[in-house]
Formats: sequence, structure tokens, C-alpha cells
Amino acid sequence: MADRVLFELTEAHLNTGLRGVPVGTCRTSRVDPQEGVSYVGYPIAQLAHRDPEEIVYLLLHRDLPSADELQAFKADLAARSGVPAKVFDVLRALPAEGHPMEWFETGLLALGMTSKVGDWKEDALNAIARIPELVAAVFRLRSGWGEPIPGKPELGLIENFVHMLGVPNADPARLARMLRVFYVLHMDHGGGNLSTFTGKAVASGHADLYGSLTAAMAGLSGPLHGRANQDCLNFVRSVGSSDPQVIRTFIQNALDNRQKIYGFGHAVLRAEDPRATIQYALGQEICPDDELFKTALNMRSVAVEILSSIQKISNPYPNVDAVSGTLLNASGLTDSDYYTVLFGLSRCSGIAAQIVDERVHFRGGKGAPIYRPKYVAEDQSPRSVDG
Ligand code: MLT
Repeated sequence: MADRVLFELTEAHLNTGLRGVPVGTCRTSRVDPQEGVSYVGYPIAQLAHRDPEEIVYLLLHRDLPSADELQAFKADLAARSGVPAKVFDVLRALPAEGHPMEWFETGLLALGMTSKVGDWKEDALNAIARIPELVAAVFRLRSGWGEPIPGKPELGLIENFVHMLGVPNADPARLARMLRVFYVLHMDHGGGNLSTFTGKAVASGHADLYGSLTAAMAGLSGPLHGRANQDCLNFVRSVGSSDPQVIRTFIQNALDNRQKIYGFGHAVLRAEDPRATIQYALGQEICPDDELFKTALNMRSVAVEILSSIQKISNPYPNVDAVSGTLLNASGLTDSDYYTVLFGLSRCSGIAAQIVDERVHFRGGKGAPIYRPKYVAEDQSPRSVDG
């Protein structure tokens, strides 16, 4: 039987970052341009407020756990937690001027050097269990909050993370409420987002899981990918008022000066990102009177109205970053430089699940071969050094 043609590739697709070009299959999540992301068939809105560990289990097992399975999974993750002290020594030696993502990437490599067992599934589970402690240590050591706080894994993945963060002057219950949702929302976004694609590409050469996640996180650290959440809060902060008229003038000025309107638009989505919708609703619950939240909320309508009138903008709608920073800020995490690390903490779980799938289950268990796309040679007519 002839293969189904999925895509008509033309020269116009070259040098466009593989935009829209199918290159593989993904079983953990799917991104519909109108509906947004679903995890293994469940729309994200149905999962957003569930236990984070349930959602990790879903991505790894392609099914939600029963109550007993969830309890066993949580106990397994708790038993796997514990970052070796040598990793903290590496972090202590890092320059404070390094970005938190650079600290995280270095910490991931050090975690691999001290923790890897060389089995995709085992390494994935260990990494998922240990990364929260690594990220908490990045916050504490780099911000000067103090030494890493020993974990209490029996609290649960995110509750323990909040405990290990020890954020000065934050309400732990509110922060945990926010971060549980944040963690679930950011975990996975199809197979082709830059960080996930990079992680799978590196893993395809049989680098280990930690090296693959480190490469993925370098991908996430770019301002066009994960670092947009940091830039987005700074954008909302610089409006200076939640007054819709002030926001309108601010956006118009930004457009006139050819500046990016942070938090709006997406490579795949063509409607409001359901992850943004969920976070706007969460903000109404946890910080309705926060001035920055009100600014972000009013920007939701004003920016869409202005951007919709610009013909060349294919998606004028809010994306996952539009309001996440204002909620983190209102929950006590006020330094936006760290927001991409929180995105990474979550996305590593989805990337690990996709790497395990591609390495262990695809192609009848053989795994996908090493990534090797073709680049069309250009400006290289034959020459000879002999003249
Ligand atoms: C996202 O979560 O929106 C992304 O990782 C960006 C993408 O899907 O390309």
C-alpha cells in the first residue's frame, strides 16, 4: 500500500524553521490551532486542577492512574528524590551574573554526572523526582536566600518544591495553588516545540537523558521560546497602570516602535490559548485586586482588539505567557529572571516522557534513528584549490 502523503514540501519551506513540516509522531500531547493543547486526548482545561503527579503519570503511561496507582506513583517519586550534595557544590561555584537558566542547565549536567543510570525510563523518573530540588537550590543559592532546604518528599512534588524554595514573605498555600496549575499547564505542548524537539534530537544520538534535557533547556532559554514569560511580566510592569486607555496608548506606541507585544501570538495556535484562559480565571481567584493582574487582564481585550486590526498578524490572542508572570509575582515570586526555570521544571517532565516514548517504544521498540534531516546545498558550485 502506498504511503499517505502528509505534506507537499516546496522550496518555500526551506529555511523556515521546519514550520508545519511533519517529522514524526507524538503520543503525549497534541496542539490544535483552535482548541489548544490536550494531553493524551484530554483537553488541558480538564486536567489543569488535578494532582501534578497524576498528569506526569498520564504522559508516561498514556492513561490516568487509579487511586492506588497514583498513591504508588507518588511513593515511587518520593523514594527517588534527593539531589547529591556534589550538585550543590557545582551551583555554589557558579557566577552570580549567570542567568538562572544557565545555572539550571549546569545543574542538570551535574545531576546527570552524579545520578544517571543509563536506562531511559529510570533516568526519566529520577530526573522528574529530583529536578524540583535542583530548581529550588538554583533559586536559593543564586538569590542569596540561603543554603538548600532538605526536602520533605512526602508532601507531594509541588508542595515539597514550595517547602524547599522557602520563598521569603510568601504564603506557601497560595504559592502551591499557583505552582500546581503552572506545572500542569507547562508540561507538554506537542512534539515540535523547540525545547522538546531539541531534547529528542540530542537523545536520538544516544546522549543520556540529562544531556538531552540540558540541550532542551538551552532551547527553552531563548526569548522567542520559554524566556518570553520573563519578558512578558517586564512588559506588563512597564505599562504602569491598569487603565485600559493607558494600556491602549502603550501598545500603540510599542507597535509604532516595532516592539514585540509580549504574551500574544503563537507559532501554532490561532485562538486564545486555553492555558491563558485557565490562568486568567486562576488570577480572578487568587489575586483579583493585584494591580499587575488587572493590567494583564485589561491587556487581554485591548491588545486583541488592536492586534486583530493588523492584517499580517495571524494570531492576535493571548498565549501561555500572557498572565503567568503576574500570577507568579502575586504569589510571592517577584524576580522574573527565574520564571523560565519554572517553565523548565515543568517542561522537563513532558520532554522526558517524549524521549522515553521515542527511544523505548517507537518503531517496535527499536526507537527512532539518529536525527539527520537534509539541508539543500546552496552557493557551492564545484571549485578546486588547484585553480
Ligand atoms: C508552548 O508551550 O507554547 C511552546 O512550547 C511553544 C510551542 O508550542 O512552540
